[in-house]
Amino acid sequence: MSIEFNKVSYIYSEKTPFEFAALHEVDLKLSEKKMTAIIGATGSGKSTLVQHLNALLLPSGGKLKVLDFEIVAKQKATNLKALRSHVGLVFQFPEYQLFEETIMKDLCFGPKNFGVSEEEAQLKAKKALKLVGLDDSYLEKSPLDLSGGQKRRVAIAGILAMDPDVLVLDEPTAGLDPQGAVQMMSLFRELNQKHGKTVLVVTHDMEHVLNYCDEVVVMKKGEVYSHTSVKEFFQDTTYLDELHILPPAVVRVRQMLNARGFHVPADCFDIKTLCAHIAKEVKHHG
Ligand SMILES: Nc1ncnc2c1ncn2[C@@H]1O[C@H](COP(=O)(O)OP(=O)(O)OP(=O)(O)O)[C@@H](O)[C@H]1O
Ligand SMILES: [Mg+2]
Repeated sequence: MSIEFNKVSYIYSEKTPFEFAALHEVDLKLSEKKMTAIIGATGSGKSTLVQHLNALLLPSGGKLKVLDFEIVAKQKATNLKALRSHVGLVFQFPEYQLFEETIMKDLCFGPKNFGVSEEEAQLKAKKALKLVGLDDSYLEKSPLDLSGGQKRRVAIAGILAMDPDVLVLDEPTAGLDPQGAVQMMSLFRELNQKHGKTVLVVTHDMEHVLNYCDEVVVMKKGEVYSHTSVKEFFQDTTYLDELHILPPAVVRVRQMLNARGFHVPADCFDIKTLCAHIAKEVKHHG
């Protein structure tokens, strides 16, 4: 098991009048080389949870294991630089992540920090920028001159340039146009399936959960409410209503059809199969 939270609690501004418990004794085991969605209402603790993975936040209670690294509450964390070379985190607000004068410098920062030569860092930077769909003309621009969606792409490229084993993406498609969002999710899936990366993606988009992820973790009020396979998650829709989650379109259509007398099985998750079921039942009655 590559990532394991063991009774992890997190309190913001501990021992001040502003203290706030954002995670409550979270137990969670995430499988290596899977693509896992982290979902849940706003304020449920998703960003707090994922920021533990590269020790940006350290637990107030409990411990976690990430690859070969162990982080225990109230103990000095060691090897953080090595951990961060293996676990890349793209923040929810990418503007916090970009700080160099030019995009080239920004993209080279990570690789150079982990001991790569300037020349090699530049090659990695260019390759990563291309992967996120931006051409070389951006390299000499200032990150400040980018749109929100472009900043997000550059922040993602900065993490890809480091080639981490675990990619943690906090709402990576927020602010992207629909086509850009699909390109980005496809890229993460490819990195997961072809290059064996473990991918964790925080998202509010159920289409992305259904179409790209293997597993789904639901956070609720600082706790893990459930952890299931994506297929299992979208079969029982009563459960989704209770969580105020609007299911993906194909699941909603299936629900509507079945409410009107069709018998589409609960494991039908793509439009082609759904259409085949409709055609079969219509013909049968026709
Ligand atoms: N720096 C902070 N100081 C104090 N409380 C915080 C801080 N950051 C987050 N919180 C609180 O912790 C809880 C969890 O926040 P978190 O950002 O992890 O939620 P989230 O699930 O990522 O939400 P969203 O979907 O809006 O991004 C919230 O109630 C939030 O108000
Ligand atoms: Mg968040």
